[in-house]
Amino acid sequence: MGANGERLLEVRGLKTYFHTQAGVVKAVDGVSFDLDRGEALAVVGESGCGKSVTALSILNLIPDPPGKVEEGEVIFEGRNLLELSDREIRQVRGNHIGMIFQDPMTSLNPVFTIGNQIREPIQIHLGLSRKEAKQRAIELLEMVEIPQAEKRYKMYPHEFSGGMRQRAMIAMALSCEPMMLIADEPSTALDVTIQAQIMELIGRLQREINLAVMLITHDLGVVAGVAEAVLVMYAGKVVEYADIGRVYYNSRHPYAWSLMRSVPRMDEKRERLLTIGGSPPSLINLPPGCSFSPRCPFAEEICSEQEPPLVEAEPGHLSACHFARDFERHGKGVED
Ligand SMILES: Nc1ncnc2c1ncn2[C@@H]1O[C@H](COP(=O)(O)OP(=O)(O)O)[C@@H](O)[C@H]1O
Ligand SMILES: [Mg+2]
Repeated sequence: MGANGERLLEVRGLKTYFHTQAGVVKAVDGVSFDLDRGEALAVVGESGCGKSVTALSILNLIPDPPGKVEEGEVIFEGRNLLELSDREIRQVRGNHIGMIFQDPMTSLNPVFTIGNQIREPIQIHLGLSRKEAKQRAIELLEMVEIPQAEKRYKMYPHEFSGGMRQRAMIAMALSCEPMMLIADEPSTALDVTIQAQIMELIGRLQREINLAVMLITHDLGVVAGVAEAVLVMYAGKVVEYADIGRVYYNSRHPYAWSLMRSVPRMDEKRERLLTIGGSPPSLINLPPGCSFSPRCPFAEEICSEQEPPLVEAEPGHLSACHFARDFERHGKGVED
């Protein structure tokens, strides 16, 4: 979305497939979106819909074989990241785009102190002295609200709680002053209170240091208050893309609509939350027509026959449903 700002990232027609013995897994199948400087975009959808593969494709981190970016462009600051040399893309990953994952333990090295792990990349990428880099690392720990940063600097990952480790990962991702942060399910492994704190932290950093954020989550409940735009994915494709208010309150796709209704909301007392029946299709053998049609409460004949294109349901609001333009009317009567 981001029509008002300066464009930082443009993903166009991205297709990433995995060539496996069982067949071709179309993990990402024609995904497009934009991100402006300082904008926060949430990428949501059930597990296995292609969120992580989208993020890894942007950073050229798809294991090849079996994976391959088959088509598309990832324009970041005017350059197509998919065409960069290994050295150039490493520089982008080191200096321009930071990334954090669900489980910080897989990215933190247990035998080095937290401080050393933050200081070292700063020394290398920003060319600072050891002392200057240490100072910067402590400032970063303070910025991500780690109390007693100087003392914690000397501690090892196992001495940190899960939430603190995720904060340390964020500090590490920010150490080289990136313009963009990709956060892939950053709070999924944490308990609800800590989840909210991590989301708040990401929101604050986005505003205060004008960080562009691509926030990946299967849990729509955590993105409110952080993301400005939402990209809803289903079976490797974009099914709805709009600003968060429109997706929450005026969804034009039955899948996104159902996802919204499966999230507890502060402003509405619902007797029971909707659960989406069935499970996502195999990405090797997609059903004919709309991939969501076998699970869709509103499906009609056309839905299992023709694949719905992604269209503008209203200005700035994309939806891939045959009934996107009159979804409200179409959905009436089935509500709860
Ligand atoms: N290395 C791989 N080999 C084969 N298939 C993969 C590989 N990585 C991911 N996939 C498949 O790609 C699809 C999308 O995965 P992913 O992007 O990780 O989903 P999620 O939305 O949960 O992040 C899944 O069907 C997954 O099984
Ligand atoms: Mg994932």
